[in-house]
Amino acid sequence: MARPAKLYIAMVGLPAMGKSTVAAKLKENLEKDDIKVGIFNNGDVRRRMVPGNTSEAGFYDPDNAASAGLRERIAAVNIAEAKAFLSAEGHVAILDATNVSCKRRETLRHSLNNHPILFVECINDDPELLALSVARKTRLPEFAHLDTAAATKSFLKRIGYYRHIYAPADEVENVVRLDTLNNRIIAERIHSGVPYYGRIRDLLMSDWIKNLFLVRHAESEYNLENRVGGDSGLTEKGRKMAWALSRHFIGTPLPYVFTSNLTRTREMAEPLLETRKGLTIHHAFKEFDEIDVGTCDGLSYAEMEQAQPELFAARARNKYNFVYPGGEGYATMAGRVYRGVKKALYLSGNSEYMMIIGHQAVNRMILSDFLFRRAEDVPYIFIPQDKYFHIVSTQTKKLFELRKF
Ligand code: F6P
Repeated sequence: MARPAKLYIAMVGLPAMGKSTVAAKLKENLEKDDIKVGIFNNGDVRRRMVPGNTSEAGFYDPDNAASAGLRERIAAVNIAEAKAFLSAEGHVAILDATNVSCKRRETLRHSLNNHPILFVECINDDPELLALSVARKTRLPEFAHLDTAAATKSFLKRIGYYRHIYAPADEVENVVRLDTLNNRIIAERIHSGVPYYGRIRDLLMSDWIKNLFLVRHAESEYNLENRVGGDSGLTEKGRKMAWALSRHFIGTPLPYVFTSNLTRTREMAEPLLETRKGLTIHHAFKEFDEIDVGTCDGLSYAEMEQAQPELFAARARNKYNFVYPGGEGYATMAGRVYRGVKKALYLSGNSEYMMIIGHQAVNRMILSDFLFRRAEDVPYIFIPQDKYFHIVSTQTKKLFELRKF
């Protein structure tokens, strides 16, 4: 029987570019095909090898000779462990480290010369996402002794040191460059036979949603009067539903909850967050704000029809493409809603569970991102206020289930 092929994957990229998320996604999915994958993370070796704190930015200063030597030794240990894994039962060894300098990559190619190496370079140039990712990193235990501002400063300084020595992985034989926010391959050059590459490429480009709970806020003051727009809060009944939602999810770890910036979705999240202090991170995104109804803001549908019958008729004729004067339409809000989804998926990384609390039109657009619906049907998708969609979209499982809470 032919011996199974072996492969090293070396991640490349500045800190907080999504490298570890990509590595974990490759591992979890390749293992479903009985490919044995090991992740070898320099940070883990560092925490094991170096007693005390290595969160100080100075540790990453290339001109700090003492720590530079230590970091070389850490890399060498990681390389040796990856090599041992492939010499034994492993098929794919992923070296999860920055590997941003040509010199470091030369060391990798020199040491890992018994099997092909694929370099996966992760890029995310979005300043907002970077700021949010850095904020997430500063919550790691290694920054526990610093306040948020000091931890952020230290981490940004660390990124600065890496930026200084960064050289795009253009000199290597096999490289795929990935935009990690959009799961898009920006460039690739594969010279020699890279085992499993077809599968890897496919995984790099696919979204991976383990369990997304898509919730709409419960009854708001405006809902009672059938009014559009505004920023009203939940009614008494709505607040009770918010508690029901929180009770329904007791026992489900929810590390990330995303809402819009509007009062009704924030109030819907409140009981959940209150009962999970320190366990759930909440991000309020304007990308998830309800459709902007422009000059119709605050009107009821009846008032809209009475005051502007032509506008009302035009909307009924082509609801998807209709745009409220001074506001948005379904078609024109698509871009920002999809961006919100990408942001949420990026930030929640490999979390098993996540929740988005949105609005009627926004949730329709989010669903349309996952479901192939004719555009003209999207504005009519039923979005109840006492049920949520449970969405799973992986390579092996697709689930869309409407559940009561
Ligand atoms: O009525 C609640 C609401 O969220 C409004 O704020 C929004 O304009 C509307 O739903 C969107 O749904 P439709 O496009 O069906 O009017």
